[in-house]
Amino acid sequence: MTKLIEVDEQQQIFHLYNEQISYLLTVEAGQTLSHLYFGKRVRGYHGQLTYPRVDRGFSGNLPGSDDRTFSKDTLPREYSSAGEMDYHLPATVVRQADGANALNLQYVGYTVLEGKPKLAGLPAAYVEDDSEAETLVITLRDEVTGLDYQLSYTIYRALPVITRSVKVVNNGTQAVQLEKVASMQLDFVDRDFEVISLPGAHVNERHPERRPVSFGVQSFESRRGTSSHQISPFIALVDKQTDEFSGDAYGFNFVYSGNHKFSLEKDQLAQLRLLVGINDYNFTWKLEPAQSFQTPEVLMAYSDQGLNKMSQTFHQLISKRVVRSKYRDLKRPIVVNNWEATYFDFDEEKLKPIVAEAKQLGIEMFVLDDGWFGHRDDDYSSLGDWQVFAKKFPQGLGHFADYVHNQGLKFGLWFEPEMISYDSDLYRQHPEYLMQVPNRAPSPSRSQYILDLCQAEVRDNVVEQVATILSQGQVDYVKWDMNRHLSDIYSLSLPADRQGEVYHRYVLGYYDLMERLTAKFPDVLFEGCSGGGGRFDAGVAYYMPQIWTSDNTDALARLTIQMGTSLAFPPSMMTAHVSAVPNHQTGRVTPFETRGAAAMSAVFGYELDLTKLTSAEKAAVKEQIAAYNQMRALVLEGKFYRLKSPLDSNQAAWNFVSADKKQVFVAVFNVLAQAQPYLTKTKLAGLDKDKCYRNLATGQVYGGDELMNLGFYDPVVRHDFASQTYLFEAVTEE
Ligand code: GLA
Repeated sequence: MTKLIEVDEQQQIFHLYNEQISYLLTVEAGQTLSHLYFGKRVRGYHGQLTYPRVDRGFSGNLPGSDDRTFSKDTLPREYSSAGEMDYHLPATVVRQADGANALNLQYVGYTVLEGKPKLAGLPAAYVEDDSEAETLVITLRDEVTGLDYQLSYTIYRALPVITRSVKVVNNGTQAVQLEKVASMQLDFVDRDFEVISLPGAHVNERHPERRPVSFGVQSFESRRGTSSHQISPFIALVDKQTDEFSGDAYGFNFVYSGNHKFSLEKDQLAQLRLLVGINDYNFTWKLEPAQSFQTPEVLMAYSDQGLNKMSQTFHQLISKRVVRSKYRDLKRPIVVNNWEATYFDFDEEKLKPIVAEAKQLGIEMFVLDDGWFGHRDDDYSSLGDWQVFAKKFPQGLGHFADYVHNQGLKFGLWFEPEMISYDSDLYRQHPEYLMQVPNRAPSPSRSQYILDLCQAEVRDNVVEQVATILSQGQVDYVKWDMNRHLSDIYSLSLPADRQGEVYHRYVLGYYDLMERLTAKFPDVLFEGCSGGGGRFDAGVAYYMPQIWTSDNTDALARLTIQMGTSLAFPPSMMTAHVSAVPNHQTGRVTPFETRGAAAMSAVFGYELDLTKLTSAEKAAVKEQIAAYNQMRALVLEGKFYRLKSPLDSNQAAWNFVSADKKQVFVAVFNVLAQAQPYLTKTKLAGLDKDKCYRNLATGQVYGGDELMNLGFYDPVVRHDFASQTYLFEAVTEE
């Protein structure tokens, strides 16, 4: 097995490489850890990137040195701090007992490990076998405070990926306050990048935006306590000419579900610094002597073949080396969820016919959504009281679960365990569980409040309540929702000088809940949710293999949302349901087949009252399920290629290709019909050019090269929101 990390002790050069990428770093004057290169693989390095010595006015020099040609303010660095001669935003800021915040982080040594160590208490990418990766840990030390910064770099053997995180160890004698600890810094020289981010909103998540990186600071951040609908914890840096299929693309995916911050700073020399980490907004962390602080991890992917390859790298890494659930490798059940079918207005008798119909149609799981617990008839009450609502289920939840199981379906259940309603027994008994600032009234959102997950007792209560239900053995799936963001940031369990820890401790508390419950119930399929895609990040994927992508179920809106999401996350992480028309969020009427085509391009299901379908629609459901069964593995495991984006054309198109390139699923969507349409073609991607493929619907055989280079005409359709799907299979040579 070839090595992945080479260290030239003499020259102090560290080279992390695999067949696709290289990452190079070195130690410069003043024991300053400096960045050399990240990109396409090189065999070796011969010193040509030593940063040129130039006297730059107003960029000062090392303490005690008269060398005016060396400044930390211009050198590309691996990790910077406040208090140095470096005017950029620093990677870390630490307030010390005497009030100073200066550090001088100097290189002191390194270790190379096989595999990849776990991050205590945090989600992260993993290895199944130590041969899959190597990890370089570099220690930087500040002599005055005794703080060590251990920078971890893991390179995967088979993927163009490096993961980074930082551990701060207080080897000093006094407590310090961490005010900022980025998980990574990456400096670039002579790169004129554009940045792609994923802004959005509730029911409008992850709409890609691409813009130049301009001088000054640009930041992409969440201050909502979660990864948020509003800005995903992901950016890509791309060259101006980079497109889906060619050009350089650097992707940064933060494995964290709380406040995040990506800062880009283009400086006086047009050099660029990227910092990624926990947002320093309202963040402090008191680190006592002998204690350590571990940052979350950043996944960095490099592609020299455009955005599709960058995304495919994240898809592979997240679906196979971040997701841990046993459902990672299992087919996910096709669900029907009752939320848009009934909202709160249901009881056992009303649901049974939907379940019975689901069975008839070939659906595999019934998910009972919000409203089954406490006395919840609307969204004003009962969060925190996870006992069955007897009015709706007079014979108990188990009775209904039995009914569902007897129909041959699995049974799924909705929870929103991090929340509390004023009108709940939990609040009446434990008002102190509610997160609030002393002497101030907390702000409601959807008329609900946050449980203070910093408190161990609160977490135990949540685990106990959820576990009590799951222990009955009748729940096969849990939808774990979170329908508001954090406010009133304060924990009664923490002293005054630790209140800056609340945001992060909340996230650690959430991870603790997920860790305990997923470990205790390994057979349960957990699905994440936060008003749809409000907490859609790789941290969640570590515990829950799939997430409800958006509360917007409109097929047209979903094209952009799912395509945007696919920049950073795999289709196997996105759930997508066929819902009724007019659509409940947009009022739009889209064809049944288009709703199917959009939903079948992810983890598939339905969310409507099946008993109200026409017989033609029921037949369509059966066909969709049969089609999905044919290609479920392909969609969950195959390579996903974006072909056309609705953001820059009247069409959206994508295709999935199986690992052996024998199966291909294509979906093409036409947004608006035209009276005098321009003709369009679909050209596929990722096929084997030397194989022949049969269109399973028509029997026609084409060359892989033909499908990719010539493509085929899209039919002229005289209605809006039309879609076409195609399944191709490689013809086996006799
Ligand atoms: C959130 C979810 C929905 C549904 C409702 C129930 O909005 O995203 O799917 O579960 O909550 O209140």
